[in-house]
Amino acid sequence: MGNGILLDTLKLSYSAVLMDRLAHPSIVDSIPRVISLIQYYGHCDTGELEDLLASNKGERPLIITDGVFALTGEIAPLDKIYEIAIKYNAILITDDAHSTGVLGKAGKGTPEHYNIDGRKNIYQTETMSKALGSYGGFIAGNMELTDSIREGSKTYQASTALPPPVVAAGIASLDIIEKNPGLHTQLLEKAIILRNEIAGIGFHTTPDKTPIIPVMFDTSEGARGLSSYLEKKGIIVPYMNYPVRQDKFLLRIALSADHTDEQISELLDNITKWKDKNGTN
Ligand SMILES: Cc1ncc(COP(=O)(O)O)c(C=O)c1O
Repeated sequence: MGNGILLDTLKLSYSAVLMDRLAHPSIVDSIPRVISLIQYYGHCDTGELEDLLASNKGERPLIITDGVFALTGEIAPLDKIYEIAIKYNAILITDDAHSTGVLGKAGKGTPEHYNIDGRKNIYQTETMSKALGSYGGFIAGNMELTDSIREGSKTYQASTALPPPVVAAGIASLDIIEKNPGLHTQLLEKAIILRNEIAGIGFHTTPDKTPIIPVMFDTSEGARGLSSYLEKKGIIVPYMNYPVRQDKFLLRIALSADHTDEQISELLDNITKWKDKNGTN
């Protein structure tokens, strides 16, 4: 809903949308009907993005991408995308659902991770449903932006506001993140160790330093098999039946700052036992 509200609020400022081929469905489905030029660039492929922009010179472009991709945990190359956005006078939106509270020195997300936070023509949509452990989304911005949403967004105005306890929980989480900067840096350290271990066991995963760690398979049987084996051992690593295009079948480890070293070892032991019987495909 946040992506829809922001794309609608900005709709007079752009005429074409360019998005990552693996963009989250909440991006894909929320492009205003008045926008007729919608193009996909290859996943994280900044070369193709630039080619598309160069071939649509008469348009006013908007680029939108996940900051951290929901299934693979990859970080979008937002620094390069922003450079290209500046060159072609494009607006840039990052859906930071999986980056808020996780990336950047203060946990502000992908723009902060790349030190482009607060720059011109860059916008973020965020959620309270991941690192903040609550529910609902938000669009942080200057007064001009937030006023134009409050005064102009039909979705914002004509839907029931979030329940106050849910918002209070999200705000309390932001407070915890602000007062404990070590929480997310330790999480990222643990995540990189776990990711390397998963690769070391022989599974395909992605390399980025984020707490979403996919275990990738060529067959759905493999992915489902490992997921249900872990569930029987009391560990929830779901098989991802999720509406984002993927070439592989995967289960997604979502690491939390609260997971202990013992829990991580238990996970790895169980994955190794399963692999010794079933292989990695
Ligand atoms: C990239 C991305 N954007 C948006 C959302 C939607 O957020 P919410 O669950 O808060 O509606 C999700 C996941 O749920 C997501 O992964």
